[in-house]
Amino acid sequence: MIKQTNFPDLKLLKRGKVRDIYDLGEYLLIVSTDRISAFDVVMDDPIPDKGKILNQMSVFWFEKLSDLVKNHLVSFDPKEYPKECSPYIGELEGRSMLVRKTEPLKVECIVRGYLAGSGWKEYKKTGSICGIPLPEGLKEADRLPEPIFTPSTKAEEGMHDENISFEEAKRILGDEIAEKVREISLEIYEFGRRFAEERGIIIADTKFEFGLIDGELILIDEVLTPDSSRFWPLEEYEPGRPQKSFDKQFLRDYLESIGWPKKPPPPKLPKEIIEKTRERYLEAYRRITGKEMEV
Ligand SMILES: Nc1ncnc2c1ncn2[C@@H]1O[C@H](COP(=O)(O)OP(=O)(O)OP(=O)(O)O)[C@@H](O)[C@H]1O
Ligand SMILES: [Mg+2]
Repeated sequence: MIKQTNFPDLKLLKRGKVRDIYDLGEYLLIVSTDRISAFDVVMDDPIPDKGKILNQMSVFWFEKLSDLVKNHLVSFDPKEYPKECSPYIGELEGRSMLVRKTEPLKVECIVRGYLAGSGWKEYKKTGSICGIPLPEGLKEADRLPEPIFTPSTKAEEGMHDENISFEEAKRILGDEIAEKVREISLEIYEFGRRFAEERGIIIADTKFEFGLIDGELILIDEVLTPDSSRFWPLEEYEPGRPQKSFDKQFLRDYLESIGWPKKPPPPKLPKEIIEKTRERYLEAYRRITGKEMEV
């Protein structure tokens, strides 16, 4: 179980809520820890193996999607990493990837196939999302007539991302790149959601990130994981109410049940909640990949 990494020989670029990123010059080393966040707060208690499960799910998707889009993955076998990583092989095993360092686009590429979260809020107020008009009378969690591209800006740390119109995305990225990431994002979401739905998981929406190397677009970051997407259990899907999260449902229910004010410090989590949550991540991995996770 790993809550935080400390690799003194490597240059730490940043710690996200979940992942620790190291800068190796030409490459980045992305390490998925077992940290979990709920209501935007990182819990004190990690979920054993969560980092491994999510890392390997991203690797699975990068390979599945590789005919559709180029990605940043170089290797996920720590034995092949640059030699300065070798003291840490034990910790890196299964939960890390070596990736090409890119220049990340300043827009997050969100695709929504269902009405949830900030999309649902915006629709209730305006009847549209990011300037895209939608049919009247949709209910919370309804499936949209077709998936929509709803970009957002990357907010500074601690701030919430802001939905923007496609026009705004074009101003930030330039017309050509904006059109291209919209097209690719919709295409890979469609592929992913069909694939997952056949295996009992609804991917309601997701966030992709792209970067540039020598002007070429590359899919970066993590892809189609429960940390970057809303995963819903298909068998419990019922529009007209908030859906159960495939992975964080037990945790959120617990936090609500104890009246935690949804700001730091996080409460201590009971063993049972940790164990049930871990089981959900394993189940998500099992359904998506059709394989048992080796932990
Ligand atoms: N190939 C790459 N080139 C350059 N930057 C990358 C690449 N892959 C990922 N990144 C960047 O790495 C960062 C990952 O940090 P991030 O804050 O998203 O971590 P996280 O643990 O997912 O936290 P959060 O839950 O807050 O999103 C992102 O800013 C992303 O743009
Ligand atoms: Mg992130």
